[in-house]
Amino acid sequence: MCGIVGYTGNKQAYPIVIKGLQRLEYRGYDSAGIALLGSSLKIYKKKGKVSALEKDVIGKDLEGNTGIGHTRWATHGEPNDANAHPHQSQSGRLAMIHNGIIENYASIKQELLLKDYHFTSDTDTEVLLNFIEDVQYNNECSLEEAIRIALKRVVGAYCILLISKDEPETIYAARKGSPLVIGVGDGEYFLASDASPIIEYTKEVIYVNDFEMAIVRPGELILKNLGNEKQTPFITKLDMELAAIEKGGFEHFMLKEIYDQPDTVFDCQRGRLLPETGQIIMSGIDNNMDMLINAPRIIIVACGTSWHAGLIAEYWIEELCRIPVEVEYASEFRYRNPVINKGDVIIAISQSGETADTLVALENVKKQGAFIFGIVNVVGSSIARMSHAGAYTHAGPEIGVASTKAFTAQLTVLMMMALKIGYAKKTIAYERYYSLMVELVAVPNKIRQIIKNVAGIQRIAKKYKDANDFLFLGRGYNFPIALEGALKLKEVSYIHAEGYPAAEMKHGPIALVDETLPVVFVATRDTYYQKIVSNVQEIKARKGKIIAVVAEGDDVITHIANDVIAIPDADELIGPLLNVIPLQLLSYYVGIEKGLDVDKPRNLAKSVTVE
Ligand code: F6R
Repeated sequence: MCGIVGYTGNKQAYPIVIKGLQRLEYRGYDSAGIALLGSSLKIYKKKGKVSALEKDVIGKDLEGNTGIGHTRWATHGEPNDANAHPHQSQSGRLAMIHNGIIENYASIKQELLLKDYHFTSDTDTEVLLNFIEDVQYNNECSLEEAIRIALKRVVGAYCILLISKDEPETIYAARKGSPLVIGVGDGEYFLASDASPIIEYTKEVIYVNDFEMAIVRPGELILKNLGNEKQTPFITKLDMELAAIEKGGFEHFMLKEIYDQPDTVFDCQRGRLLPETGQIIMSGIDNNMDMLINAPRIIIVACGTSWHAGLIAEYWIEELCRIPVEVEYASEFRYRNPVINKGDVIIAISQSGETADTLVALENVKKQGAFIFGIVNVVGSSIARMSHAGAYTHAGPEIGVASTKAFTAQLTVLMMMALKIGYAKKTIAYERYYSLMVELVAVPNKIRQIIKNVAGIQRIAKKYKDANDFLFLGRGYNFPIALEGALKLKEVSYIHAEGYPAAEMKHGPIALVDETLPVVFVATRDTYYQKIVSNVQEIKARKGKIIAVVAEGDDVITHIANDVIAIPDADELIGPLLNVIPLQLLSYYVGIEKGLDVDKPRNLAKSVTVE
């Protein structure tokens, strides 16, 4: 949610900052802006995507070895040029970009208005910047000290990059609750919300912690906490290749990431899932096995697509490990007063590892002594670092705003986890444990087969692209897949869609069914197959248009449905990992048929770092 990027060194900052913004655009695309500092301070900003800014700066003065840039997901103030970052202080001396929300900005603004400050935007960022300037005047202190004093007053979340005309080579950076990575180059520094703008220049990075500030200038990096105590920067080596953040010949990141799934599911299993020795090796679980097998309850906390992965895990863990599981929306859980008992284990699922609601929900239960197991994709992210133990999903950077490959990687980790705990707890026999391992190993190839039949899915997308609504139905392990199918379609095609347990449809949603409504059934061969056949008939009787995801060789639903997507057969527990793929492709192609920007759907952002 908002991307920030900065550079200081001996190169021209503009090309580095603008490229960084392109890489971070998935975090927000309401507006983009840059501030360049050299012989003078130049600020350019524009409503819309980074490409609009690039057009706007043609022919303008882009000189400067220091620069900061911002791509915005609007919170305070509508998306327009004035609310775009960077903001400039009233004196014109300072420029700042910000990711996060200053919750007490209104009271600070009141104080500043009384002192005759004027504001040119509706943003909380401009308030914070002028507050920093005001603190510096009042205290006659250094800018560094003023930032520290001001940030101690701030309630909310921030990552800021601030530059001053008085120090043309320096960037001041600070964070609380919003991510910040610093790339260490040869006498130069790259600052960004995540590593994607940094990776092509250096693999040495520092993850800045909450309540820390960094002062960087060519050849010098000083890290301090807000108490002005020096901190030792801890340099980490990035395990990421440039190719992973490029489209690699695909028209969109979303399509590339759907096609990446045979590899990402395999990468997630690599070195962990070893049917040849009957082992699943995951150190985060091995080191905490006693606690996990004895957990009286598991609570899964997540948002969006990650929450759907959690719902499937609930079915799996209860089935294989016989441990009661609750799945919670982090945004609700954080404001409840949940009962956490001794021994309860919290599983946090997050692609970005930065989702504000999940992060705060975890902080709350951590204070109550709960053990937190993080299932996270972005290495070094806040949730990964605050978990007691965990397992990375190793899906690589996910750039399409709609989550695809992160979801199947989360499911892979969760299934391995359930198998491992269930086997250690003796709630599943070796034969079942082993056969599910083998089934899991087969998933990448089966995904490849599904993708080969993409033409049929494209045809269905074309046929139904003008529908106003969609219904997605599934039972058991496939109910969360129905929810995920509906979410994907909403996100990238703007068609209203609902996911429902197929049997529950009779209790209300069936009233929606008429000859204009496409109903997608996830109806592969499982325990509920006969039941779902009846549900399909119920829709057919009411003239709904049936699109069915079925297992190859299906000869019942295939003859009832209007359109069929046949996919390889699998054990019903493993099915969700395959069944979601045609739904991802369907959403993608409906979005494309409608001419929409599937990688950057309106109003969304990849990493939701505000509550
Ligand atoms: C949907 C999607 C979102 C995220 C949600 C949680 O396609 O991407 O619903 O799943 O915002 O994000 P993470 O997993 O980063 O915590």
